[in-house]
Amino acid sequence: MKNTVATARQQKKDGDKITMLTAYDYSTAKLMDESGINMLLVGDSLGMVMLGYEDTISVTMEDMIHHTAAVSRGAKNSLVVGDMPFMSYQASIFDAVTNAGRLMKEGRCNAVKLEGGASVCPQIKAITESSIPVMAHIGLTPQSINAFGGFKVQGKSEEAAKKLLEEAKAVEEAGAFAVVLECVPAKLAALISEKISIPTIGIGAGAGCDGQVLVYQDMLALFSDFKPKFVKHFADVGSLMKEGFKAYIKEVKEGTFPAEEHTFKIDDEVIEKLY
Ligand code: KIV
Repeated sequence: MKNTVATARQQKKDGDKITMLTAYDYSTAKLMDESGINMLLVGDSLGMVMLGYEDTISVTMEDMIHHTAAVSRGAKNSLVVGDMPFMSYQASIFDAVTNAGRLMKEGRCNAVKLEGGASVCPQIKAITESSIPVMAHIGLTPQSINAFGGFKVQGKSEEAAKKLLEEAKAVEEAGAFAVVLECVPAKLAALISEKISIPTIGIGAGAGCDGQVLVYQDMLALFSDFKPKFVKHFADVGSLMKEGFKAYIKEVKEGTFPAEEHTFKIDDEVIEKLY
């Protein structure tokens, strides 16, 4: 069954946790889709885990459309969310609607995600009114890394916690169909999840959220530059890949690969005529 914004809403009502992972390419999206994941996020985290940038700031609309289209081709049942990169929506409502439209039209995603609370509510409202569902993202918003001064847990003081709850209510009011809570204390994330009617998707926000999202390179131990506290390695695919690469190198060097069964035949008579 195809996951939609309506099924996500129903999952919250039913207490059925929403599962989401990032994906950036066709083959991985297809594997995740076949595994039964509810949502795929083509995150601008691709700047770090796929392209090797130190943050997400340099990611462009062209990068996002290219990867979103690949993921959409691999996703049959999952809801695909395309991430709006830095400066594709902040400057004006016109930019926001135009770029969200490009992501949906050219990337064929089912929804877009953008970072920020009250300050981007006019954009959320305008995009939603253009029939493009919006997933909001509050708490630690990596595109604001220079304003935050580092990757830090958000909403710890009374004032900051109140502000985060207000931001969650504001994005709901503006029309967002769901909201990502990133690096938020677990008790605050659980309270926000109770106080708003749209699903909360947590990353570093505890088990009280309505769903969870992780960067897939993190959860499969494919990304080794650093490991945030909220990441769990569900499989050590990084080591498995290295084992495979080493075995390939060894067999090529030894001449045991390719073997007979990997080669194509030709009649000896044809070859003899070439000598
Ligand atoms: O870009 C991304 O992958 C994200 C998730 C971490 C939520 O925004």
